[in-house]
Amino acid sequence: MADIVAGIATSHVPAIGAALDLGKTGEPYWQPVFKGYEFVKGWLAEQKPDVIILVYNDHASAFSLELIPTFAIGCAESFAPADEGWGPRPVPVVQGHPELAWHIAQALILDEIDMTIVNKMDVDHGLTVPLSLLFGQPQAWPCPVIPLAVNVVQYPPPTGNRCYQLGKAIRRAVASFEPDLKVMIVGTGGMSHQLQGPRAGFINTPFDTAFLDGLTRDPVGLSKIPHIEYVREAGSEGIELVMWLVMRGALADDAKEVHRFYHVPASNSAVGHIILQNPKE
Ligand code: DHB
Ligand code: FE
Repeated sequence: MADIVAGIATSHVPAIGAALDLGKTGEPYWQPVFKGYEFVKGWLAEQKPDVIILVYNDHASAFSLELIPTFAIGCAESFAPADEGWGPRPVPVVQGHPELAWHIAQALILDEIDMTIVNKMDVDHGLTVPLSLLFGQPQAWPCPVIPLAVNVVQYPPPTGNRCYQLGKAIRRAVASFEPDLKVMIVGTGGMSHQLQGPRAGFINTPFDTAFLDGLTRDPVGLSKIPHIEYVREAGSEGIELVMWLVMRGALADDAKEVHRFYHVPASNSAVGHIILQNPKE
């Protein structure tokens, strides 16, 4: 039986990808950011997940304002890095897991959570930067990845509770997949940041800290945060944090915090990262 053993959350700031790709990780500005991800790289090398479900948002790369799925699951064999204006990132093509992805799509839709099924899609920094932070710069990503895209770009995004409930449905879906697979789920984006308008550069460390605390101990409380509070407290792009709730919903209520990292700023964002592990059954 497949099983979700752990969840990871991390910001997906595109400048982090550029720093890696351009060999700038040792520079004083970037060094403390990458240091915060040393732990997870070693931990993942030990844990060796068979598959990762990566919850992220597309930033008008694969989708555009012409087509905005609220939730979309990538069922393709592979996903190429998107060209976001400077050519595709020099990172490996993402290999999918069509068998598990189709199973999850079917299980979710029959569970009355309607997903858009995607059979061809390029993946942008929302997906590739987290993979770089978790795995460094390998020749090939060490395991298949199922992209799960959430609309947090165009109002109205799904509610935090909807995302949390989606996570719970993903957990049920994975548990009903026959082959033995060690699955992890990654929630990306955030933390507080605003890229536009008079508050551009806005960061709210007390809000982010409370969100990290609540993610382990009070996810139901977090799931009730309304959109307007994300905008006010975490900036206009802070709404990306609802994707962390998909990850949290897919874990046990008593999942344990294994590691946490927080750093301000990287580009315009507060970088947050947490690892939560399910109790052994
Ligand atoms: C930044 C952060 C994001 O999440 C994003 O999608 C684009 C830019 C930033 O901090 O610059
Ligand atoms: Fe983003």
